[in-house]
Parts: sequence; C-alpha cells; structure tokens
Amino acid sequence: MADQEIVPTIQDSQRTISRRKFIQGVIAAGAAVSAASYVFRGTETILGQTSLPGAVERLITLNVNGQLRRVDVMKQETLAMTLRYKLGLTGTKLGCDRSECGACTVLIDDVPHYSCSILTHTVRGRKITTIEGLAAADGTLHPVQQAVVDEQAFQCAFCMSGFIMATVGYLKVNPNPTRAELAHGISGNLCRCADYNKILNGMMRASEYIRRT
Ligand code: FES
Ligand code: FES
Repeated sequence: MADQEIVPTIQDSQRTISRRKFIQGVIAAGAAVSAASYVFRGTETILGQTSLPGAVERLITLNVNGQLRRVDVMKQETLAMTLRYKLGLTGTKLGCDRSECGACTVLIDDVPHYSCSILTHTVRGRKITTIEGLAAADGTLHPVQQAVVDEQAFQCAFCMSGFIMATVGYLKVNPNPTRAELAHGISGNLCRCADYNKILNGMMRASEYIRRT
C-alpha cells in the first residue's frame, strides 16, 4: 500500500520536470523566432536560409517628413502608433482609432490617409508627411497652417492637425474649390466641437493663400 502511494508521486515528479522542460523549450524557440525576425532584415538568415514566406521585418526604415527613420515595429502596429509612440510625432492625434474621425490623418505620397488604419510595415518606401513636416525649415508656416491661425479656425483644436492634413491633400488636387466642394473634400474628418463653419472659413482662406504662392 505504501509502495502504491510512492509510485504515483515519483511519476508526478517526472511529469513535472518533463512539462517544465517542454515549456522552457517552447519559450526558447519563441525567443529565437522573435530575435530572428528582429535582426535579419534581408531575404536570408545567418544560416543562409531564406526567410519564411509572409515573415515581416521588424526593424524597418520609414521616410517621415523627409527624414529616413529606423524604427522597430510589430507586424500588427499601426502607423499612428508608430508616429506617436516610437517617433515622438504627437501632432498626429488618435481619436476613434477605427477610421471614423480623421484625427490621425497624415499624407502618404501626398494623399490623405487615416494612420490609425494602416499597418506601419506596409508603408516602407512611401513618403509620409505629418503635421510636423508642413512648416518650412526656417519656421515659416504652411499656407494652410497660416490660414488656420489667421481665422482662429478651431475651438479645442484636437481635430485640427487631421483637418489640416486632409486640406493640404485635397488642395493639391483642387486648389480652387467652392465652399461646398471643400466641405465634401474634407468630409472624412469630424470635429467634436462641431466648429465646421469656422473650419471651412479657415480652409477657404487656405485655398486663397495656396493660389497666391
Ligand atoms: S483616430 Fe484614425 S480615424 Fe479616428
Ligand atoms: S475644435 Fe474641438 S474637436 Fe474640433
């Protein structure tokens, strides 16, 4: 009877050791995979093996506001998160984080996009412009920024950088819009203060400034 009680205890001990080793092995393998995806950026690994199909590089180069920036990104990371929390470009705001408000709008190859809904690794090699990249090197504001200042076009201004980026993008394709056309052109952006009349005043003035330059 005593032997019967001891035997299961030994077996349990062996099982525990075996299970611990198994878990350690899984963790070690995961760490190796993670490190490999971080370190090896070409198509070949240090062992001369080709990267797995669909593997995503983590250390990538982005072209942001005319500068090449090296940044470590997770494969599921959005551009808004990278810009704000990896590159310190907090002028890009996060409102809804689901493609509804436009607060996170940036230009990608001069076209407005919601950065909360774009995976960062998909924009390698593209030209990304944020609100921080609009002013000239000597501090001269972009005409759209200057118009916003001149018209005092916002209340709390949380939505402002998104509206400005959307307007900059829209005026590149239609620099002489009617008020209705401009309203439609930037209708993907929302203002919680509902200050749309003043916003449109500012953006119409911006179109004047741009036509003068
Ligand atoms: S935060 Fe991206 S659309 Fe609202
Ligand atoms: S001015 Fe406050 S959200 Fe637009």
